[in-house]
Amino acid sequence: MRFALTAFTTLGLASIALSACSTSEAAQEPLVSPILTSEEAKDTSTYAQPEVARVTHVALDLALDFEAKDVFGTATLDVTAEDDADTVVLDSDGLRISAITDADGNALDYTVGEHDEKLGEPITVQMGDARQIKVTYRAAPEAAALQWLDPEQTAGGEHPFLFSQGQAILNRTWMPTQDSPGIRQTWEARITAPKPLTVVMSGLSGGDPVEVDGDRRAFSFKMDKPVPPYLIALAAGDIAFRELGPRTGVWAEPVMLDRAAAELVDTEAMVEAAEKLYGEYRWGRYDMIVLPPSFPYGGMENPVMTFLTPTFIAGDRSLTGLVAHELAHSWSGNLVTNSNWRDSWLNEGVTSYFEGRITEEIYGKARAEQEEALSFATVEDVLAEVGADDPGTALHQPDEVESAGSEIVYDKGAAFLRTVEQIAGREKFDAWLRQWFDNHAFQPATSQMILEDMQANLVAGDEELGRRLKLREWIFEPGLPDNVKRPNPQAFAAVDKAAADYAASRTPDAAAWQGWNSAERLRFLSKLPEEMTAPQLAALDSAFGLSDSGNNEILFAWLRTALANRYEPAVPVAEEFLSTVGRMKFVAPLFGTLMDEGDWGQPIAKRIYAKTYPSYHAVTRGAVDRAMKQGA
Ligand code: BES
Ligand code: ZN
Repeated sequence: MRFALTAFTTLGLASIALSACSTSEAAQEPLVSPILTSEEAKDTSTYAQPEVARVTHVALDLALDFEAKDVFGTATLDVTAEDDADTVVLDSDGLRISAITDADGNALDYTVGEHDEKLGEPITVQMGDARQIKVTYRAAPEAAALQWLDPEQTAGGEHPFLFSQGQAILNRTWMPTQDSPGIRQTWEARITAPKPLTVVMSGLSGGDPVEVDGDRRAFSFKMDKPVPPYLIALAAGDIAFRELGPRTGVWAEPVMLDRAAAELVDTEAMVEAAEKLYGEYRWGRYDMIVLPPSFPYGGMENPVMTFLTPTFIAGDRSLTGLVAHELAHSWSGNLVTNSNWRDSWLNEGVTSYFEGRITEEIYGKARAEQEEALSFATVEDVLAEVGADDPGTALHQPDEVESAGSEIVYDKGAAFLRTVEQIAGREKFDAWLRQWFDNHAFQPATSQMILEDMQANLVAGDEELGRRLKLREWIFEPGLPDNVKRPNPQAFAAVDKAAADYAASRTPDAAAWQGWNSAERLRFLSKLPEEMTAPQLAALDSAFGLSDSGNNEILFAWLRTALANRYEPAVPVAEEFLSTVGRMKFVAPLFGTLMDEGDWGQPIAKRIYAKTYPSYHAVTRGAVDRAMKQGA
């Protein structure tokens, strides 16, 4: 089953075909995907009214100005609308617009609505009969999607760097767009940057750059598959490319390239494993860029160009689950996309499940079971903390954007699919998931749709199976249904025993630690007693070399425990970490932990943050600001 016919509108298909063909060659993929109009599919984080008029193609022509920290140029938008529609509404946030014209350069009237802290401001364009509009604009230097790095913030230290982060609703700060995950569009871009910087984007490259004005080069890109706007991304810096496989490769600053490529050697095999599981990789190339350490996320699934934090490089490929995760989004998220952010479990939960399956294929069942156990423990921790009846613990989230922590959306989401897999059987489950991707490719989806799809194509009339799965409860109710598949208790049996022994003896076993892999070490650290004395922490650090760990997940776990116990020698280590790494998942909890430590921790947190905040991306700053308020 696809959708109920009443649930979407395709808006004047004839006019779409015409306008789309004028700017892009005939594509095999559908040029226009449906807009869902049901109440549950509605996106309240956009001003766009896609059922009236919607953008189907974006052509960006932008210049990057590293001195002014400014992006400026034009965005030309193809719009499809009913014949009598004469306005189109776009999202923007802080854009300085100098003109909006039709395709022939005739000025169009427009109004910029009131600014909202969260959503920015709507631009309502009186397009009349025009179905192509050209916006000439400048982004603000403080555009939240963009981070402009000074040379000192890069590994090479000689050239500035720029990257964008669109998800969830930040791209409106650097392009006028209908910034909603349910509105898909093809796009193309021409971006100029000063020499010797190279520009990459989340689209296929149009070939070698072209010289302009002597000291600048123009790079071109194209995405001929319809994507939601949050997946348009750009990075520019002194970067070089290394091939990893026939369709995989990595970009990084030259001094990072060897380490990055070594950590990523499994990538081509991961793409093959993913294809074998759930069908053809449909995007052409799978390249990655390893960004400077201020990148606020672990990874971001920008099509054909995953963006990665350098903090996943541990030297032993122990944190490459991140790559499996971003790759899996090429199906869950980028092919089939949550229609609004309340259903982000459709992106992140399905991806976390898929990540586990790739991990199993590449690294074996033991590692996959350990990662499953770590993930499941975080769900249990959250439920213990907020209560299993908290509405925020339902997969289908009650609020947009500011919703549950990642444990629910990612880890409960993955636990749901593992449960369904176990009850229905792997073969049947895999066939169902593959057809879900195929039948909803390049389209938005909702919780209700996946529920109906599972009922139609997985349960398929087997009433007993339907009862055992408890699908509705899993998707719409808080807490964990009692049919949940629990992780293999053997996954960490030895480590858990060692952790219990340690809690009793407080004597670290350095030999045991040496024999453990990264997941086992993280498990051990998660089981440390809450109250530890300074001599105990000192002994632990010296036995395991925690403060010198090259594995950032381990370093982070150690610092949290140490700071929560007011362990003074950890402060300079934390300060160094917080001064170089901007990954939100590490930075915000460390500040939060310090703030929880009253007279001891709060002055430290404030002192460090005063120094480090200019180096953080807006996303990380926002999270740290919240952490600083919470504890104070
Ligand atoms: N799409 C997310 C990152 C994201 C989520 C950006 C929500 C903005 C809003 C990405 O795929 C992700 O999940 N990254 C994780 C990776 C981890 C789960 C392996 C991260 O950054 O830590
Ligand atoms: Zn993800």
